Amino acid sequence: MSKQFDVVVIGGGPGGYIAAIRAAQLGFQVACIDEWKNAAGGPAPGGTCTNVGCIPSKALLQSSEHFDHANHHFAEHGISATGVKMDVAKMIARKDTVVKQNNDGILYLLKKNKVTFFHGRGSFAGKAEGGYTIHVAGKTEEDITAKQVIIATGSNARALPGTPFDEVNVLSNDGALRVGAVPKKLALIGSGVIGLEMGSVWRRLGSEVTILEGLPTFLGAVDEQIAKEAKKAFDKQGLKIELGVKVGEIVNGKKGVTVNYTNAKGEAVKLDADKLIISIGRVPNTIGLNTEAVGLQLDERGAVVVDADCKTNLPGVWAVGDVVRGPMLAHKAEEEGVAVAERIAGQHGHVNFNTIPWVIYTSPEIAWVGRTEQQLKADGVAYKAGSFPFLANGRARALGDTTGMVKMLADAVTDEILGVHIVGPQASELIAEAVVAMEFRASAEDIARICHAHPSLSESTKEAALAVDKRSLNF
Ligand code: FAD
Ligand code: NAI
Repeated sequence: MSKQFDVVVIGGGPGGYIAAIRAAQLGFQVACIDEWKNAAGGPAPGGTCTNVGCIPSKALLQSSEHFDHANHHFAEHGISATGVKMDVAKMIARKDTVVKQNNDGILYLLKKNKVTFFHGRGSFAGKAEGGYTIHVAGKTEEDITAKQVIIATGSNARALPGTPFDEVNVLSNDGALRVGAVPKKLALIGSGVIGLEMGSVWRRLGSEVTILEGLPTFLGAVDEQIAKEAKKAFDKQGLKIELGVKVGEIVNGKKGVTVNYTNAKGEAVKLDADKLIISIGRVPNTIGLNTEAVGLQLDERGAVVVDADCKTNLPGVWAVGDVVRGPMLAHKAEEEGVAVAERIAGQHGHVNFNTIPWVIYTSPEIAWVGRTEQQLKADGVAYKAGSFPFLANGRARALGDTTGMVKMLADAVTDEILGVHIVGPQASELIAEAVVAMEFRASAEDIARICHAHPSLSESTKEAALAVDKRSLNF
């Protein structure tokens, strides 16, 4: 007789493992199936985020930033550091250790919460009495049954038609995170989040980086003023970003890659590079799930179709994270995972799509929550804007990092905060205050009247709030 569970989660990324833990906390018998393998073939739960996404990219960003500081910023503090060298193999090994610590941490958490973990691929075998039969194919094969199924199978990198990833010269996010030596010339296609983060890593380590972007605007989803400020900083760093290009034939040769493209002026250009990273978005992943066996509905992009509560077209089958609509972010996947577990338990799970923060971990960091100025204009909302430059912030000056600003947008009538946009130091941490404020539907005046520690970067948020009412104190 097959093992029976109340809830089976397919996928052990941030959407899946968090859903499994929350469901177990709520008293269900839970299984979580994940197929990711580490180098030794063992389980490596945590999904894209832990293995080839959020965590390893931030580890490399940190290492490369230290290198950049040692080379370019120590001197201004009176520290001389000559002959600074980068041991790329050691940097990659450190990144792998960080990943493993996270894999092990997740395995520990699943065990602690009494979630049964299966290492292998889960697929629908068919309907069972009161639920579904899920086939698990790992080292051994078995069928388990579940009353409720949560699909959290994530996403994969989108390839350019005709240019498959070989992970040697043509790299997805996976290969981009384990390049063995600093490429002399690095090309990237797509100046979105991965393009900018990975481009920054290798630029800091000495690569000549060119990012080719199809759209004529830089970071179109970001507030225009913030994107402009960020672009200025990237230009100064020597991160070459070409907008409005049309990528043509890509030749993957023995010595490297040649990208043929037409630039914004209509000129034909040949770009030779040692490595090419393709970062043009990601596609939802349902490979091997055997959705046909149960008639699970997918959309034209291959995403699992869900309603606002993450319910699919099948009773008792839910889907969360990158495999469904909405932003492909780890924290969005987690929130959906928690909400679904709570809905299964009859509670009122809640995910507020208006307050999901975005962060791009470049230097300067870019972070935002809520609507941009251009969105508010398009929506016909009357708003007030206030901003405060880090140049006028004492802590930023002490840190030696005064690029950028905090910008706050508030409703012209009610003063409710509608969006906060930051480019500058520690934007990833500063944005949390804005998220809390928006979740509690705070006004700009609320933030303006809250005591912020001095000297801190967060005073810039308070000052931006004061600026909404045209009463900045320090600018
Ligand atoms: P995933 O993390 O993709 O996990 C899905 C899991 O399911 C995988 O382990 C997969 O092996 C497994 N699986 C799939 N099919 C099956 C099956 N049939 N049976 C068993 N297992 C299966 N987001 C952020 O919020 N912040 C960041 O800083 C950030 N950085 C990123 C950097 C990079 C380079 C990339 C590529 C992504 C980054 N993301 C970031 C996005 C983030 O990684 C994803 O949004 C997040 O991982 C989605 O979580 P998920 O649980 O939906 O899917
Ligand atoms: P993206 O959607 O952020 O950016 C893709 C870029 O490629 C866009 O600017 C797009 O216009 C461009 N593009 C698409 N097709 C093109 C073509 N044929 N030629 C030239 N340019 C083209 O996608 P990316 O960077 O691949 O990242 C995928 C997702 O992973 C992100 O959207 C995000 O959800 C997640 N992520 C999040 C991070 C974070 O939160 N810090 C970090 C990295 C990834």
